[in-house]
Amino acid sequence: MNEQCDFRSRTLALNHGGGHMPALGFGTLIPDAATTVRATRDALEAGYRHFDCAERYRNEREVGEALRAGLADGGIAREDIFVTTKLWNSNHRPERVEPAFDASRERLGLQYLDLYLIHTPFAFQPGDEQDPRDQNGAVIYDEGVTLQDTWSAMERLVDHGKCRAIGLSDIGLTELRALCESARIKPAVVQVEAHPYLPETELLEFCKENEIVFLAFAPLGHGIRPGPLEDPVILRIAARTGKTPAQILLAWAIQRGGALLTTPKSAERARENLDVSALPPDAFDDINRIETRQRFNEVVKTGSPGFIPRSTQ
Ligand SMILES: NC(=O)c1ccc[n+]([C@@H]2O[C@H](COP(=O)([O-])OP(=O)(O)OC[C@H]3O[C@@H](n4cnc5c(N)ncnc54)[C@H](OP(=O)(O)O)[C@@H]3O)[C@@H](O)[C@H]2O)c1
Repeated sequence: MNEQCDFRSRTLALNHGGGHMPALGFGTLIPDAATTVRATRDALEAGYRHFDCAERYRNEREVGEALRAGLADGGIAREDIFVTTKLWNSNHRPERVEPAFDASRERLGLQYLDLYLIHTPFAFQPGDEQDPRDQNGAVIYDEGVTLQDTWSAMERLVDHGKCRAIGLSDIGLTELRALCESARIKPAVVQVEAHPYLPETELLEFCKENEIVFLAFAPLGHGIRPGPLEDPVILRIAARTGKTPAQILLAWAIQRGGALLTTPKSAERARENLDVSALPPDAFDDINRIETRQRFNEVVKTGSPGFIPRSTQ
């Protein structure tokens, strides 16, 4: 298969000299430590070269341990992998951004990070409590900081050579547009929920026009059934092309010009989710015509993680 069709090796250029990001990424939102280490090692061994982490996932140490061991055992250079982590909501105050970045890098045990994202546009009460609540159980927001203030602190990380690329997650088009107008350094990447039931087409087009990589999480609809994995259009294309429903959904996400994150927890699924190639044009069009609309993750509404992996429920 030539490189055009084989999405496994596709990379996307990042603006502001941030290098290239592999389109197929491995996400580390995995609740238990042992599974994090094993799944991350399996992913590296299977061939993933893009790893998405977050302070909020509380497993940066385990991801770092798995990556360092895997790189050493596989004779893989640090420069050959792309590692992202994210600033959590309780660290939006500008003076907390660089310490939060340093703490994440330290936990991951890596010399540098390739991309740093603001995890959500919601600022929570500053401090070490990741989920600050009042006595009624309501989230305590921080009215004393704007997204632009936090973004300026992110820009300083780039100025100081701490990180080559910066971006945002869980952001809507209106806020992204406003931020792009005032930003000195444009976001390199925007990470949002996207799949055929939530295509976010307008946001995708805006990202393309502004040379921002559109990075989809939940490309399989978080694996929730019923959902895109069981959609009749997807099942029909899978049967016709000899691919699995997951491979069809992942191919669609890349074929529309974006990148994606998936979290296979077994070596077999890691290989399956990496074996992704271009869809026939009519199949691609059929998926674009799916009319079902469903958001699986409510994080964009409150900033609180809206999805808890099933194994912790
Ligand atoms: N920015 C944000 O707010 C945000 C929010 C959520 C996620 N993320 C990032 O995005 C990453 C991806 O998360 P996701 O939930 O979207 O991952 P995903 O891989 O799209 O969905 C995970 C679910 O899909 C299932 N699955 C994986 N591969 C499969 C396959 N080949 N066939 C059938 N089912 C399959 C998994 O089942 P098993 O568990 O049984 O393997 C799991 O239930 C996260 O790890 C995280 O890095 C970011």
